[in-house]
Amino acid sequence: MILITGATGNIGSQVIKLLVHEHVPMRALVRDVQRASTLKANGIELVQGEFEKPETLEAALAGVERAFLLLPSSPVQVQQQCAFVDAARRAWVRHIVKLSGAGASEDNPQQFARWHWQVEQYIRQSGLAFTFIQPIYFMQNFLGKDTAEMIAQQQRFVVPVKADFKFNMVDARDIAAVVAKTLSEPGHEGQTYVLTGPELLSSREQAEKFSQALGHLITFVELAPATFKHILLGAGQPQWLAEGVIELFENLDTYVTDTVERVAKKEPITFEQFIRDHLRAFQS
Ligand SMILES: NC(=O)c1ccc[n+]([C@@H]2O[C@H](COP(=O)([O-])OP(=O)(O)OC[C@H]3O[C@@H](n4cnc5c(N)ncnc54)[C@H](OP(=O)(O)O)[C@@H]3O)[C@@H](O)[C@H]2O)c1
Repeated sequence: MILITGATGNIGSQVIKLLVHEHVPMRALVRDVQRASTLKANGIELVQGEFEKPETLEAALAGVERAFLLLPSSPVQVQQQCAFVDAARRAWVRHIVKLSGAGASEDNPQQFARWHWQVEQYIRQSGLAFTFIQPIYFMQNFLGKDTAEMIAQQQRFVVPVKADFKFNMVDARDIAAVVAKTLSEPGHEGQTYVLTGPELLSSREQAEKFSQALGHLITFVELAPATFKHILLGAGQPQWLAEGVIELFENLDTYVTDTVERVAKKEPITFEQFIRDHLRAFQS
């Protein structure tokens, strides 16, 4: 039995989709069983649970051999994920696949990466078999309500990045493809997989790709980090999140790995393809 956490999110929902095709017995931990009822229709066992309530994790982990651990970044993420690891050990889980972040290390300037590193260390010391999945910046960040709406309604997007600075982004579906392999095949224990997309693109080039796909001009506005942070705070985001997002933009990744091809045995999704697959989200 495999347990999937984060089952309704960008990555978890896609992992489930892929494993359903493999007929792998699966259980999904969800906060709202009603809202996740489509998963049940696919034959997946649903268990109500929340990381805030460790007692719900015990029940979710009973009889599980492999678990996919994903929790959104937050100041309580380390504590909650470590509690999950403890519960997994007590339940005799054999292998944890943890969704981490590229560059997870003690001295990474990004808080999010340092949090992931702390959890990785805890898992290493737990004695459980592990696989760490370290993706870079997601293409799906463009699907965030504010960004997608701005593209659809104002034909522009804003980020605190220099217009010609080229960086890489990965599609969450490719992350899911690698996760699905590590959960359903032997041989991935002890591995750390750094996942990227296939190309480096500047924000100017991203805007051009949007323009081509949508058939009208999409522009890009470069903001100072302080202005961008001010906008996030004004939109009600907490301080830690606004700061974390700025750190993310200040440390974007500028390399390409072959992990998606190597592990998932597929070509990584291009940004152009990502836009085409989500065209409606960017149309008014
Ligand atoms: N975005 C990036 O560019 C980027 C880059 C590198 C790494 N990462 C890492 O990727 C992860 C996020 O992945 P994602 O985009 O797939 O996440 P996501 O789409 O935001 O989904 C989060 C999932 O976690 C569930 N969840 C949230 N809080 C929970 C709780 N307290 N108890 C139980 N379930 C809970 C949500 O369930 P509900 O449906 O109930 O809300 C949802 O299924 C984070 O760890 C982040 O650090 C992100």
